[in-house]
Amino acid sequence: MEKIILTGDRPTGNLHLGHYVGSLRRRIELQNTLNYDEFYIMLADSQALTDNFGNVQKVRDNVLNVMLDYLAVGLDPNKVTFFIQSEVSELTEFTFYYMNLVTLARLERNPTVKEELKTKDFSASIPMGFLTYPVSQAADITAFNATIIPVGDDQLPMIEQTREIVRSFNNLYGETLVEPQAVLPENENCYRLVGTDGKAKMSKSLGNCIYLSDEPDVIKQKVFSMYTDPDHIHVEDPGKVEGNTVFTYLDVFSKPEDFVKFMPEYKNLDELKAHYSRGGLGDMKIKKFLNNILQELIAPIREKRRELEKNPEAIFEILKKGTHKARKVAYKNLIKLKTNMGINYFN
Ligand code: TRP
Repeated sequence: MEKIILTGDRPTGNLHLGHYVGSLRRRIELQNTLNYDEFYIMLADSQALTDNFGNVQKVRDNVLNVMLDYLAVGLDPNKVTFFIQSEVSELTEFTFYYMNLVTLARLERNPTVKEELKTKDFSASIPMGFLTYPVSQAADITAFNATIIPVGDDQLPMIEQTREIVRSFNNLYGETLVEPQAVLPENENCYRLVGTDGKAKMSKSLGNCIYLSDEPDVIKQKVFSMYTDPDHIHVEDPGKVEGNTVFTYLDVFSKPEDFVKFMPEYKNLDELKAHYSRGGLGDMKIKKFLNNILQELIAPIREKRRELEKNPEAIFEILKKGTHKARKVAYKNLIKLKTNMGINYFN
């Protein structure tokens, strides 16, 4: 079977560390190590419109922003096809035929949709576009015969729903579509990186993000105001490591070399944790350590981004080329789908 990777993001804001550990890092690894046939990354602007239909300009502006973040972290347009969802109109056709295979009740049970609805203000009632976006996501995936979908765990219900649609379609109309597989981040802290406030996952609307484009003083200020252990008042007090955001981040971001470079008094993270739990280690020290690590991680990304920003035309050129290619593939697969359904009148 062909190895076709597809993933994407809603362009609604700059990408942050949660995206980095939750999906970008894995994409870069796949790009550099996996022997794949195709790798598509989609700017899901149509999906973003399902809950931003009143703010098209925001979505439009963020297509460029997110592309800048992608390229700045090292995703390579020579290895990855980047495209804009709304420019591949075949996707809406796939969606329309899949709608027949999904019930209203099934959509209302989708755990991610349910979770998202809680945070939205659809005061009157739920727009159809929003409720049915999992169906359009099935179209995004199957229109390219994608088999490998690198995503965060919040996307598992979407992949499951896609697999159901694939099975229903194949049952009704004969073997046509392939079932995709989700590929999750490497460890659980990365699934939903907690925000700097320690309360919930990093998310723009909660204002608890460290962005890949943040300036050094902003990163520092965010790290130094991170939630730690509220009962760890004096340096000599024993401190709690669990639920301490600084340690959660150190679990995710610190490498053995960081100790050699920035904290030679400790051999590794276990030693640092042990000292903190015992008492005698201040928050200031662990925050300084984390700040050093994050500054070093983000600096090259921010600088590359600044270079790329100077030439937005070049970025749109990459998107145009990728979209052209994606459209050809989606069209070919749409013809096959319609033929198998029996709605091919003129050939
Ligand atoms: N739902 C994804 C998100 O919110 C974006 C997305 C749209 C996607 N279509 C996709 C991801 C297809 C993977 C595959 O980030």
